[in-house]
Amino acid sequence: MTLGSSASPRVRRNRMIAAVIGMVLVAAAVVWAIVALTPSSGSANPTATPSQTPTATPRPAPTATSTPTPVDTFDKAAHSIDDPNSIWVVVDKLRPLNPADFEPADLVVVPVAHTWEPLMRAEAADAVVKMFRAASDEAGLSLASNSAYRSYEAQERVYDNDDELTARPGFSEHQTGLTMDIGPASGNCALAVCFADTPEGQWLRDNAYRFGFLLRYPADKVAVTGYQFEPWHFRYIGTDLSHEMREQGVTTLEEFFGLPAAPDYA
Ligand code: DAL
Ligand code: ZN
Repeated sequence: MTLGSSASPRVRRNRMIAAVIGMVLVAAAVVWAIVALTPSSGSANPTATPSQTPTATPRPAPTATSTPTPVDTFDKAAHSIDDPNSIWVVVDKLRPLNPADFEPADLVVVPVAHTWEPLMRAEAADAVVKMFRAASDEAGLSLASNSAYRSYEAQERVYDNDDELTARPGFSEHQTGLTMDIGPASGNCALAVCFADTPEGQWLRDNAYRFGFLLRYPADKVAVTGYQFEPWHFRYIGTDLSHEMREQGVTTLEEFFGLPAAPDYA
């Protein structure tokens, strides 16, 4: 069949309508194909499946190893804990001074208030002066030395046969020249446990580390140190170690250096 001129007008009109419908259908098909195949068609694309929807790239679940671990760079071997000349020397009932009659070479008079003229090694003496000055400037407190360096012979006189209160000669930290017994200048509670409850005792407890000192015989560490609570006994260890121990929350030299507890003599 053709669209020949011999066809009747009615037939030609029907053929024309069919042709127009056909063209409309072809155009609709072309439009559908364009819409369906365009990637950015989004919600206009009725054939899009859930798998074609962009999704976030899955990340691995956090694990313990993905958290940076702080590196402890503190060098525990920076100073000897055995040499009596070292500011880190550890002296306790299992670790006597060696030699037993050790005497520091750099003892100086510490220029602070005192009941007995105090001698200490120069570095520790400087730190004591700074600490006493800070107690006065920051808190209006007046401190005094009740005892500092004690020779082997002096410790013989001090030792009272009570091994939980005094050290035997050759076993006292006082012999290192790095230790001072500190009390209030008033004398109130000097060398007594009640010093812990005085403003001076509390200030020292909280601030001594800033100047390189350690409260050496804490109330809760008798089983480690071998001595009853001595809130007055401060041992110079230098600010590197005093700050490190405070940061770690370790309160005895034995625990910090991994040494055996020393409740008794060998
Ligand atoms: N009171 C301390 C333990 C000493 O005698 O060294
Ligand atoms: Zn002491």
